[in-house]
Amino acid sequence: MDIEEKIRTLQEKVESELGSCSDAKGVEELTVRFLGKKGEVTSLLHSLKDLPKEQKPLVGKRVNELKGKIQEKLEAALAQFAQKELAARLASEQVDISLPGKRRFRGNRHVVLDLLQEAIDILVGMGFSVQYGPDIESDYYNFEALNFAPDHPARDMHDTFYLNTETLLRTHTSNTQVRVMEACPPPIRVIAPGKCFRNEDVSARSHVLFHQIEGFYIDREVTLADLLHTLKSFFSKLFPNQELKIRSRPSYFPFVEPGMEVDICCFVCGAKGCPICKHTGWLEVAGAGMIHPEVLKSGGIDPEEYLGYAWGFGIERLAMLRYGIDDIRLFLENDARFLQQF
Ligand code: DAH
Repeated sequence: MDIEEKIRTLQEKVESELGSCSDAKGVEELTVRFLGKKGEVTSLLHSLKDLPKEQKPLVGKRVNELKGKIQEKLEAALAQFAQKELAARLASEQVDISLPGKRRFRGNRHVVLDLLQEAIDILVGMGFSVQYGPDIESDYYNFEALNFAPDHPARDMHDTFYLNTETLLRTHTSNTQVRVMEACPPPIRVIAPGKCFRNEDVSARSHVLFHQIEGFYIDREVTLADLLHTLKSFFSKLFPNQELKIRSRPSYFPFVEPGMEVDICCFVCGAKGCPICKHTGWLEVAGAGMIHPEVLKSGGIDPEEYLGYAWGFGIERLAMLRYGIDDIRLFLENDARFLQQF
């Protein structure tokens, strides 16, 4: 076969093979086969050394032209496939930015701790400072110093978890009162938030673990009117929807005299009567009273010189009222579907 024929055959071969190429990878393989170190065009170039000297320049030029042409063709085909492949890839990776995104759940503060913090913020804004008493407490601070004698029937109100005869899980945040009195002289204006524990049968209404905020103010002239006004201001800030009315009913707690239950008008029905307020128009929200002289004495404060008020309320109860939750167990079940709502 003379050289011209070889050139033609090679050219045809490249064209037909290129015609059946379907992707960039195929073109790359062809490039190696024809133009690579051991490629067909390359071998043709090498074979020129056997030609008579005078033919070399001309034939060499023809083969180089062939090489250039083939190179161009392969490069063009490569570019075309690359573009097609890029277009296909972009189309397959296309993102519909008009679709609503998938929201990732990031977690949020527990509804009870959230409300606890909100209440703390309001009370701090009203001039109270925050003190924390221990969850594991002595019988003394939880009961005895608060005027619960060892055999006092009022202890029946608190079903207590005892760790031993002396130590227990506090049943209320009132345990902080005498600790604070011992630590700082009056005037004292303190709130004590925290966990409380009772050995109760768990039901929709009561649980073994709940939260309270205790508040107390001890000074030379403290009155029931101060107490009621403070509670009214606080609850008006916590439930700001409407003009808030407050009332108190006599009740008994050993550490206050007089003692009372405090109700606020039902903010759900505007005091008209609804299932939340059991059709009374009132919601029971706190226990309160004037600190008993014996309790002041336990704290080393002279009851002839000082007076104090105290209150305590449960956070779960307030959360249930605010959000219309009818089962206290929900707070501790850790069901994300419930907790994520707040
Ligand atoms: N410690 C009481 C309880 O858990 C609540 C309470 C009632 C606190 C009257 C007070 C108070 O400070 O004056 O049942």
